[in-house]
Amino acid sequence: MKSYIVGNWKMNFSVGESSVYLHKLLQKLPRHRNLEIVVAPSLVALQPLSLQTDRKKIRLAAQTANPHDFGAYTGAVSCTQLRGIVDYCIIGHSERRQLFHETDKDVRATVAAALRNQITPILCIGETETERTFGETHDVLRDQLLGGLSEVSTEDLSKVVIAYEPVWAISTTTDARLAAPDDISEVAGFIRQILRESYGKTIATSLPILYGGSVNPSNAGAYLTVPDVNGLLVGSASLIADQFVEIVEIAKRVQD
Ligand code: PGA
Repeated sequence: MKSYIVGNWKMNFSVGESSVYLHKLLQKLPRHRNLEIVVAPSLVALQPLSLQTDRKKIRLAAQTANPHDFGAYTGAVSCTQLRGIVDYCIIGHSERRQLFHETDKDVRATVAAALRNQITPILCIGETETERTFGETHDVLRDQLLGGLSEVSTEDLSKVVIAYEPVWAISTTTDARLAAPDDISEVAGFIRQILRESYGKTIATSLPILYGGSVNPSNAGAYLTVPDVNGLLVGSASLIADQFVEIVEIAKRVQD
């Protein structure tokens, strides 16, 4: 299966800086036919970067979108407006859920909106520290996964990418809080099991599952070799060209 390296730039870089950074990545990143490299700049940079990027090398993702196509939604941007500019949209990132109060209903409607606008949804799911402590990880993941996919037609299911991001492991600075590859393997296996029970074996084996949470060049190799993991969603390390390129090079070696 193809491997994915997705850089989530969050609210970093001006439009000019984004352009310079993309230029640098386009020069440095290796190409591999089984590797999909995606970056998610901030909304204002998407349109100019879409004219600059070489889609054979780097594709663009939005960091979120509004589920409605058009209308009186001040400040919002829809998948219909993003169509043709991005190939992917990150949906349900924990920061969107926690800081911007995006609900499961918003997430599921945005997944459907992305698909109807020919944008691949990267559906983020993940438990918080408290949910983990109380042994609720499986219940939370099942709800977020099946909830997020509930408006997707059978034929569109194969177009979705899943990202498992345990909230407690995002942007951590201490190794003690990093997710262990064994734990990720268990969760990725659980996600495939839920997919198999709900949609059958073909979907369960074909949907890419990415891991995200403090990925950097020192742990990327270990995460990429976890069974059932098909790529990485990278935050902080994607903002440093050398680190992002190194992660992509590691992914390339794992693919070879
Ligand atoms: P991080 O962010 O790599 O900085 O932990 C990952 C994410 O939030 O997608």
